[in-house]
Amino acid sequence: MQPKRGAVRLSDCHNFHDFRELARRRLPGPIFDYIDGAADDEVTYRRNSESFERCDLVPNVLRGVGAVDLSVSVMGQRLALPVYCSPTALQRLFHHQGERAVAAAAARYGTMFGVSSLGTVSLEDLRQAHSTPQVYQFYFHKDRGLNRAMLQRAKQAGVEVMMLTVDSITGGNRERDLRTGFSIPFRLTVAGMLQFALKPQWGLNYVTHERFGLPQLDAHIDMRGDTMSIGRYFTEMLDPAMNWDDVAEMVREWSGAFCLKGVMSVADAKRAADIGCAGVVLSNHGGRQLDGSRAAFDQLAEVVDAVGDRIDVMMDGGVQRATHVLKALSLGAKAVGLGRYYLFPLASAGQAGVEHALGLMKAELERGLKLMGCTSIGELSRGNLRFRN
Ligand SMILES: Cc1cc2nc3c(=O)[nH]c(=O)nc-3n(C[C@H](O)[C@H](O)[C@H](O)COP(=O)(O)O)c2cc1C
Repeated sequence: MQPKRGAVRLSDCHNFHDFRELARRRLPGPIFDYIDGAADDEVTYRRNSESFERCDLVPNVLRGVGAVDLSVSVMGQRLALPVYCSPTALQRLFHHQGERAVAAAAARYGTMFGVSSLGTVSLEDLRQAHSTPQVYQFYFHKDRGLNRAMLQRAKQAGVEVMMLTVDSITGGNRERDLRTGFSIPFRLTVAGMLQFALKPQWGLNYVTHERFGLPQLDAHIDMRGDTMSIGRYFTEMLDPAMNWDDVAEMVREWSGAFCLKGVMSVADAKRAADIGCAGVVLSNHGGRQLDGSRAAFDQLAEVVDAVGDRIDVMMDGGVQRATHVLKALSLGAKAVGLGRYYLFPLASAGQAGVEHALGLMKAELERGLKLMGCTSIGELSRGNLRFRN
């Protein structure tokens, strides 16, 4: 249920909508809109959550469900929960603890977290702080030497899973950001600046904590000042000509668990399996790239049928409830990625917020699994789903 009155503190937050509301109250408008927004008319963004409502769970009863096991194995990693924190950019803009908070909360719940190429804490610092499985999210650069150096760096740091994002060959059209002037470095419109003035607490936190940076890139690209913006990084440094041969070479070079994030078609999933990927993440980037594209949940069954016996199929997009996760797992997903589900809690209350959100997810998963008459994730199947016409 969406809140009637907005959540004003962490203890008021019982679900995704409460956290979203608290984040809206705490963040300057342009930053909230950067997280909350999506591409063009935001049709895909809305459809991502709606897609879960197209089917219903069919529970079984009287199955003896005293204790439930929520653990799963995915990409060679054992996770205590079937959800993981998908990589997202710029987390220290949302809360000064940024990636540190997300990694600590993921570790506390025994699950995996992703570090973005546009992350604001170094992958090495996070690796040293926690032993829970870590994903590194990679963007493919025109400069092949740079790609090799970055792979090497992640390998040396001990990253378990390499995740190449393939749906961002060019930036999505995020019109909310155009209106506010959100970009890195900031190019705020007057209206955008006023929004920052209304949230002085955020500004105080921002200036009194460690200096903002992009440590995954700073070592390789001069991202300071006006020399390079994130927009220019996408258009000038990333390689829109990237093709399957390039990725096959990367997979060989990594020689560990490698997956593609942003695959949607059966043909691409088969090709990913052919070149040695261990998994694919069905994703439309939270609706932030190609508006009008299909929801990952709607593509899940056919991709699992095509390649589920060869590689791990994961999905993300629109997940706001454990019942969404249970539906995806029932269709054959090995694990489910969370995006805004943990970003709004991060913005609301840092590590405590993300822990609170993951705690709610865990409790909902346990309750949901018991109510489904299952004691482990492996007992879920398509038999317990019915699609509406
Ligand atoms: C603010 C924000 C930043 C993101 N940054 C990245 C990124 O740097 N790399 C990436 O592969 N995906 C990125 N994503 C996409 C997420 O990893 C994930 O696919 C998406 O958020 C899932 O949808 P959801 O937010 O509805 O759960 C970002 C998403 C958001 C909301």
